[in-house]
Amino acid sequence: MFVESAVRWWVWSILLQFGLGVSAGGCPSRCTCRPEAREAVCSGKYLTSVPEGVSNDARRLDLSRNRIKTVGRRQFSGLLQLQELDLSDNVISMIEVEAFLGLRNLRTLRIKNNRLKILPVGVFSGLSSLRYVDLSQNEILVFLDYTFKEMLNLQRLETGENDLVFISQRAFFGLQNLQELNLDRSNLTSIPTEALSQLQSLVQLRMIRLTISALPNNAFRRLHRLRSLVISNWPTLDSIAANSLIGLNLTSLVISSCNLSSIPYAALRHLVYLRFLDLSYNPITVIQGNLLGDLLRLQELHLAGSSLLQIEPGAFRGLSFFRMLNVTSNQLTTLEESAFHSVGNLQVLRLDGNPLACDCRLLWVVRRRLRLNFDGHQPTCSSPDTVKHREFREFSEKELPKLFTCRPARVLDRRPQEARVEEGTTVLFSCKVDGDPLPVITWISSQKTVISTSGRIRVLQNGTLEVRFAQVQDSGTYQCLAGNAAGNDSLTVGLYVKGLPRNRSVPLFTEEGWVEPSTAQAANSSAQMAKPYPFDAKTLIIATTMGFLSFLSSVAICFVFMFFWSQSKGQIKHTATIDFVPRSSVGGGGGDGGDGGRFTMKLI
Ligand SMILES: *[C@@H]1O[C@H](CO)[C@@H](O)[C@H](O)[C@H]1NC(C)=O
Ligand SMILES: *[C@@H]1O[C@H](CO)[C@@H](O)[C@H](O)[C@H]1NC(C)=O
Ligand SMILES: *[C@@H]1O[C@H](CO)[C@@H](O)[C@H](O)[C@H]1NC(C)=O
Ligand SMILES: *[C@@H]1O[C@H](CO)[C@@H](O)[C@H](O)[C@H]1NC(C)=O
Ligand SMILES: *[C@@H]1O[C@H](CO)[C@@H](O)[C@H](O)[C@H]1NC(C)=O
Ligand SMILES: *[C@@H]1O[C@H](CO)[C@@H](O)[C@H](O)[C@H]1NC(C)=O
Ligand SMILES: *[C@@H]1O[C@H](CO)[C@@H](O)[C@H](O)[C@H]1NC(C)=O
Ligand SMILES: *[C@@H]1O[C@H](CO)[C@@H](O)[C@H](O)[C@H]1NC(C)=O
Repeated sequence: MFVESAVRWWVWSILLQFGLGVSAGGCPSRCTCRPEAREAVCSGKYLTSVPEGVSNDARRLDLSRNRIKTVGRRQFSGLLQLQELDLSDNVISMIEVEAFLGLRNLRTLRIKNNRLKILPVGVFSGLSSLRYVDLSQNEILVFLDYTFKEMLNLQRLETGENDLVFISQRAFFGLQNLQELNLDRSNLTSIPTEALSQLQSLVQLRMIRLTISALPNNAFRRLHRLRSLVISNWPTLDSIAANSLIGLNLTSLVISSCNLSSIPYAALRHLVYLRFLDLSYNPITVIQGNLLGDLLRLQELHLAGSSLLQIEPGAFRGLSFFRMLNVTSNQLTTLEESAFHSVGNLQVLRLDGNPLACDCRLLWVVRRRLRLNFDGHQPTCSSPDTVKHREFREFSEKELPKLFTCRPARVLDRRPQEARVEEGTTVLFSCKVDGDPLPVITWISSQKTVISTSGRIRVLQNGTLEVRFAQVQDSGTYQCLAGNAAGNDSLTVGLYVKGLPRNRSVPLFTEEGWVEPSTAQAANSSAQMAKPYPFDAKTLIIATTMGFLSFLSSVAICFVFMFFWSQSKGQIKHTATIDFVPRSSVGGGGGDGGDGGRFTMKLI
């Protein structure tokens, strides 16, 4: 027993002395060393070069906030145990090739905020254990091929805030285990698709503050493990091609503070594992109905600070895991329950900062005001005036039925409208309605089609149906449907158009639409203008060609005839005798044997 513990004590003391002896002897002047932590801290000591004499067993060396300008070749060669090296906030403009050779246990390297412009290939030689490197806030212009090739274990690479204009296709070659890449604030003008495709293990890609205006098709290739993509503050980005995100299987996607005017439904469709989607701060005006249904697992949608005017019914249909909607600071007047698949799952709702009309459409929200998490921001009513500026939580259960109410849509003037008119007449059918919120008016024809706001038969701004230059086939019943969240109402009108004898000119249909007979005849309509001749150019060419062909063929037949005629004479004449009429008309040919002049020509 005694011998054993004595030996143990002896061993311990030797080890202790040895350890202390080594670390005590290795602290550069001006630095603070903590042998027990095996670290040397030389931060903010006005050092102009890497100091000598760092203990060989140091694990951490902090050289940040100094005035170091260059890092030479094999500068740290003895520091086999070093795991963390911090060179941030210096003025390093040059790191020689193989500067870090020998640091085979280095895991973290920080070179943030220096003046590096180029990274010669081979700078990072020997850093086979490195997990994290921070190169942000330098002035690096390009990443050359094979810059990072020996960093097999690198997991995180920060390159933000450089002047990067180009990333060579094989720059990221060898980064087999890179999981996180940050390309913030670079001067790239397109996505470095080819370079990124080397990063088979990439899980997170962040690109903030770029000036790229379009995401083209297949912008991200072979990034099968990518789960999180952040695109933010690209003020010119306004187009996202339908297949730009193809090949990706994301769970989180941010495209915020860009210039998107609509949700890129087509590009998102295949992201069936997406759980988090942030499209905030884009000029998006509407979330359309039934277009996000493919995002089966979507849980959170953020569309804060956009220009949303409407969230259509069915907007989140199919999203049965949907639990957070953040639409703070938009122009929404309401949010109807019918937008959701099931409001029972909704936990967090940011609806503040919208001009909300507190009527029956928002009753579902105010009823859940104690259960729903408003993230510390209560929605506030903007209208009607009786509840203006009131927060949702202020309402007591008792006053709700009186306050959050709607007046169902109602057609005001129900007198029967029936018009019997002659062909060519213009007819108006009014449909005055009342309701709160203001009802939507729809006119339906007797063929059950919805009448639009343009065309010969159209719905005017005030809900009136206008039939211009009525035709016999317009006869029938028309139905005005008025509806709002509280109810529907309808009105049916009749139109009977009498045909006129055919000799009377009927309205003409021209390029500009239907034109009354009188004006159509007076004005030179575009249809008439376009065709000043009864034939078009093609017809004329064909006619001319055919005429010309028949002329040629008669000439040819003539020659053939002459040839046979001369052959039948059996002999070749060497002279031709040509008679001519002195009172010469146009043609001077043809041996008509007249009594004018005559001359003989020799045929060659
Ligand atoms: C990169 O962009 C910044 C900001 O637009 C600009 O100041 C800088 O000169 C650009 N650098 C290069 C190399 O183009
Ligand atoms: C954003 O898009 C609008 C048109 O959609 C355009 O007028 C505007 O200039 C764009 N903004 C930027 C910063 O490109
Ligand atoms: C897509 O990602 C999800 C979640 O990470 C994963 O469960 C699924 O297997 C992936 N699918 C493919 C095809 O990689
Ligand atoms: C909603 O969006 C705003 C603005 O982007 C943000 O500040 C807030 O944290 C978001 N709320 C939640 C719950 O994420
Ligand atoms: C609707 O507008 C049209 C034309 O602007 C007008 O002729 C008509 O009288 C209006 N109808 C009602 C009911 O206000
Ligand atoms: C009004 O009509 C629409 C469409 O026909 C229907 O979906 C809705 O449920 C109706 N609303 C009421 C309150 O009857
Ligand atoms: C149509 O023809 C009838 C009989 O020829 C004639 O009496 C009538 O005036 C004509 N109508 C017009 C509008 O020309
Ligand atoms: C008809 O043609 C004349 C000249 O040919 C032109 O001055 C006039 O503006 C045209 N009228 C219309 C309605 O296009």
